[in-house]
Amino acid sequence: MSKDRAQVIPAFIDLAAQREHLGDRVERAISAVLKHGQYILGPEIAELERELASFCGARHCITCANGTDALWLALMAEGIGTGDAVFVPAFTFVATAEAAVLAGATPVFVDVRPDTFNLDAESLEAAIGEAKRHGLRPRCVIPVDLYGQPADYKPIHAIAEAHNLLVIADAAQSFGASLDGRKVGTLAAFTATSFYPSKPLGCYGDGGAVFTDDETRAARLRALRNHGKEPDRPDTEHVGLNSRLDSIQAAILLEKLRLFPQEIGARQERADRYNEALAPVVKVPELMAGASSVWAQYTIVTERRDELAKVCRNAGVPTAIHYASALNSLPPYRHFPTAPAGLPQAEFLAKRVISLPMHPYLSADAQALIVATIRQALASPKTGVAHAAE
Ligand SMILES: Cc1ncc(COP(=O)(O)O)c(C=O)c1O
Repeated sequence: MSKDRAQVIPAFIDLAAQREHLGDRVERAISAVLKHGQYILGPEIAELERELASFCGARHCITCANGTDALWLALMAEGIGTGDAVFVPAFTFVATAEAAVLAGATPVFVDVRPDTFNLDAESLEAAIGEAKRHGLRPRCVIPVDLYGQPADYKPIHAIAEAHNLLVIADAAQSFGASLDGRKVGTLAAFTATSFYPSKPLGCYGDGGAVFTDDETRAARLRALRNHGKEPDRPDTEHVGLNSRLDSIQAAILLEKLRLFPQEIGARQERADRYNEALAPVVKVPELMAGASSVWAQYTIVTERRDELAKVCRNAGVPTAIHYASALNSLPPYRHFPTAPAGLPQAEFLAKRVISLPMHPYLSADAQALIVATIRQALASPKTGVAHAAE
């Protein structure tokens, strides 16, 4: 590899570049917490909750320890548990189904759409019938905003209303995106998000939040994240979790939130560059009309995924697979019901998706190297790909 090439080698997600951009603001924010010493539920928590709610237009934000707990807390707040069916897409990170199991409910796997890879409303409708045949009570659907684009909430809400299902948005990857002029955080009764470091808005550890417009639900969530203790009562009245966000993480998020709108714009520019350069050679991501994405991942689809991953590895271009298996094929989830027609799209995608480096500080040179590597790989005859990358 030439020296010039080595200098532009991209990171998959470059948190160090963001750190540099933040200057010493994070250190100062952490120092302020060290000074006041309220490490748990300190003043940064209420401030962050106000700012996040105002950012997305939700009435309430309740921060918590991570995105998995955010989903679990929403399920707990509605008393969803044993005998209840929770419909989840089969093509997502494992936490979506895990939260249903933690709550004591049964995940029922639904297929995804071929265009956006988000939950397919027709498959949901069919899965509701299947859950009933298994003797389960249909209670809740958790659409996932995969890779940063909101799910298609309109038909999902129509089905949810017809069957009296609660909708919890799994927005771990999409905080900051919007659909038909409404921001993620306001598209469902509950919205759960994650501040895992690599998320579009991430802290320096684990973190999460739930958004809701409902006052009663918000109060329940505040109690549940703190061992079930209502703030103004001496005794614990519900079984809850220890799932509070640390004040230090809130202080970090407050600083990062100031950069976030600019970073969302930078992510879109990088996605546009990829789209333009890669659309002629491979299936690039599709956005629904009216949807924006925060591009948590930039994921392409190719029959030659494994060859492409190898070529990229040889060229020093990091890639990742989100996700290599439909959830129903993983050992702990194999015995749960699926939509009656099966999950052909989820299974198709699991063999063909590959995610490319994506972050707001990805340079034009690094992107040119990534694009050239992919174009070269896909232009070669199948057997010559590995050779072409050397
Ligand atoms: C779709 C989805 N749901 C839930 C989660 C869980 O978030 P956390 O890792 O903060 O628990 C993630 C995290 O990667 C995710 O991508």
